[in-house]
Amino acid sequence: MSRSAHPAGPRHADVLTEGHYSAPPADLNTLDGKVWAQTVTRNADGVLTVGGVDVVRLAEQHGTPAYILDEADFRGRARAWRTAFGDDADVFYAGKAFLSRAVVRWLHEEGLNLDVCSGGELATALSAGMPADRIAFHGNNKSTEEIRRAVESGVGRIVLDSFQEIVRVAHIAQSLGRRQRVQIRITVGVEAHTHEFIATAHEDQKFGIPLAGGQAAEAVRRALQLDGLELIGIHSHIGSQIFDMSGFEVAAHRVVGLLKVIRDEHGVELPEIDLGGGLGIAYTSDDDPREPHEIAKALTEIVTRECEAARLRTPRISVEPGRAIVGPTAFTLYEVGTVKPLDGLRTYVSVDGGMSDNIRTALYDAEYSVALVSRASDAEPMLARVVGKHCESGDIVVKDAFLPSDLAPGDLIAVPATGAYCRSMASNYNHVPRPPVVVVHEGESRVVVRRETEEDLLRLDVG
Ligand code: LLP
Repeated sequence: MSRSAHPAGPRHADVLTEGHYSAPPADLNTLDGKVWAQTVTRNADGVLTVGGVDVVRLAEQHGTPAYILDEADFRGRARAWRTAFGDDADVFYAGKAFLSRAVVRWLHEEGLNLDVCSGGELATALSAGMPADRIAFHGNNKSTEEIRRAVESGVGRIVLDSFQEIVRVAHIAQSLGRRQRVQIRITVGVEAHTHEFIATAHEDQKFGIPLAGGQAAEAVRRALQLDGLELIGIHSHIGSQIFDMSGFEVAAHRVVGLLKVIRDEHGVELPEIDLGGGLGIAYTSDDDPREPHEIAKALTEIVTRECEAARLRTPRISVEPGRAIVGPTAFTLYEVGTVKPLDGLRTYVSVDGGMSDNIRTALYDAEYSVALVSRASDAEPMLARVVGKHCESGDIVVKDAFLPSDLAPGDLIAVPATGAYCRSMASNYNHVPRPPVVVVHEGESRVVVRRETEEDLLRLDVG
């Protein structure tokens, strides 16, 4: 899902036309800081270290595959978003990217809020001490039970996604004697430049209420009439892994346009707008993500300008980055099991995980990079495909990458930028237990989500 397809490299010219990779880098031992967690480096022996811990030790202590998460990097990125938006805006980390109690505590300490979209995410957030009023509850089909728990626990806002839900939440809030703060999620009709499965603001999809045809204005009309609801704002999320700010610009323009319609019709100026998440990260060296301060500046300017033009008070802005905070902070550590050169094609490198710990390549044609991390190597680059251990040929982790040609079983390789939507979308396909999340920080490692065991899997099988 990297944006660019690349010109043919010098090797294996016969298959290069279908690939998406660049020419091999001059030095395969170099680690591009854009795709690796911040504290990653190679030590004098050529072994990759992160948070001051080397990966050979991590593999011995925690086994492979494992997600290795750099706490300093996570906190640094969370803080950068917080600082960039300042006190006049709110940053809600999107828990769907990756959620655990440790992460919730870090977010709390760094002054971020949290967006959850299921009862399970809400339970995790509350159990780790996130104050309920700093939680936003999302989803296009929240169950009655989930809504009740969200209202009862006092979440700061529920983002309403349909006409039925407007009534449902109002009814539940009223029955509990509450007035629930809500936003209405609208679809602004923007075609975000990203994979079809993760674009969310065009009209022909399941999320939100269309601005087109006056539906969003009608939703506002109804919400304003219901005693159980306090309508505080309008929400728009245009999609994910987006680099081009123009989609946000159009979205902000249309959201502010709706605020104006609401002011003119009801004499009410809604105090908040949420522009969602979706900012892209570097999965390979070809991706060039924006820094949080650039994004904050761009979004704030757009909204301020649009509001001035509409003679509206500038509402409080919130954003919901998930991937942009956690994505780059982790990598997946695998052990190589087999190396299978296919003449004139490429070399298949099988690792001890696969589509069960990273479904993104199979699902979105996502691009990743990979490096040999248990040693340095000066061997010639070989065109490789990193595949998993699952029973299907689409079980690909890294479609096209260069690895040293002396790669052998027992070597450790790592795939960077797997912090977002890998553990959170992991499965037990082929009854493979899900890998642990190991946090590294200042020379220490600790497990924050333990590895699943076969006993865990059997415990669910009660037949
Ligand atoms: N806010 C809302 C309402 C969302 O639906 C999402 C993501 C986010 C914020 C956070 O988006 P982010 O900043 O992480 O891009 N599984 C896909 C991504 C699905 C995103 C779903 N919603 C993937 O692996 O690329």
